[in-house]
Amino acid sequence: MRVIEITAPGGPEVLQPAERPVPEPGPGQVRIGVAWAGVNRPDALQRAGSYNPPPGASDLPGLEAAGVISALGSGVAGWAVGDRVCALLPGGGYAEQVVTPAAHCLPVPAGMGLREAACLPETFFTVWSNVFQRGGLGAGERFLVHGGSSGIGTTAIQLAHVMGARVFATAGTAEKCAACEALGAERAINYRDEDFVDVLREEGGADLILDMVGGDYLPRNVRALADDGRLVQIAFLQGPKVELNFAQVMMRRLTITGSTLRPQSDLAKARIAEALRERVWPLLDSGRVAPVMDRAFDLEDAAQAHARMESSAHIGKIVLQVAGG
Ligand SMILES: NC(=O)c1ccc[n+]([C@@H]2O[C@H](COP(=O)([O-])OP(=O)(O)OC[C@H]3O[C@@H](n4cnc5c(N)ncnc54)[C@H](OP(=O)(O)O)[C@@H]3O)[C@@H](O)[C@H]2O)c1
Repeated sequence: MRVIEITAPGGPEVLQPAERPVPEPGPGQVRIGVAWAGVNRPDALQRAGSYNPPPGASDLPGLEAAGVISALGSGVAGWAVGDRVCALLPGGGYAEQVVTPAAHCLPVPAGMGLREAACLPETFFTVWSNVFQRGGLGAGERFLVHGGSSGIGTTAIQLAHVMGARVFATAGTAEKCAACEALGAERAINYRDEDFVDVLREEGGADLILDMVGGDYLPRNVRALADDGRLVQIAFLQGPKVELNFAQVMMRRLTITGSTLRPQSDLAKARIAEALRERVWPLLDSGRVAPVMDRAFDLEDAAQAHARMESSAHIGKIVLQVAGG
């Protein structure tokens, strides 16, 4: 089968087409004929050599895909060959066929194409588990998400808005800020012109912040939180090491937490999938929430897709066309 390999740690040019044997699904797994594969920032980290696949996972990049089930491993119930699914993957999505636990598959939402469905798993699993399960966001709370125009950000804005939170987002251009507000943010803050700490403090502080930036955002996030506020860290685009006055955490009863999705157990991911199917898939079926599409590239042009992602010019999700449909 055609795949895209990471030939050595490095820039986008190390992504090269290659041929590999078709993988066989193990017990509890399905094989999916990939139509579209989603591109995520962690793929670029893996390509650069700083986010290695967990033990047993494919060395090929690609954490999500949509397509048609082409084979079932032993013991799989609830799915059949020919079903159209989107799935969270342990890796291996930049390929014509991929295997993943059956419990990490979800149906393609009503009326949605496979291209859009390929954009769902990575950001919806991440946002649901961090914003709602770990962060406990409730209706009426003030929620701040950094990188509001990213794949993660566009998902977080929509879900938080539809769940009744007051949403604030940061982004780096006026166009990105407008996109955040169109998705449901009541206020998008262009961080090049305004200090998000001032804006949030004027509103009474954030009850929950979802952050992927880190660096000097860490002490600033602490200042932007309301008493009893929670900070959930999902990445450190500006680095994980900072000086922080923890007296603030104690005096204002703050919670600082975080998680990464990929190394979690298959069971933990299956539980997130169950919750998504019950709580979020009806919102996708009805069209109240939808993935924000940036641009599609052919599988062979994965290097261009990564270059676009790392330029940060995109708004929403970038996808790779593997077979179409
Ligand atoms: N913990 C987890 O389980 C998990 C899962 C998936 C993704 N993630 C992380 O979540 C983040 C977003 O992922 P994504 O796939 O949605 O990525 P993405 O679409 O590429 O978004 C990243 C965005 O962050 C903003 N940004 C702010 N500071 C930045 C900096 N110093 N360097 C680069 N970009 C910066 C950029 O927009 P501006 O123009 O506004 O700056 C950019 O669009 C990534 O860091 C990713 O690693 C974590």
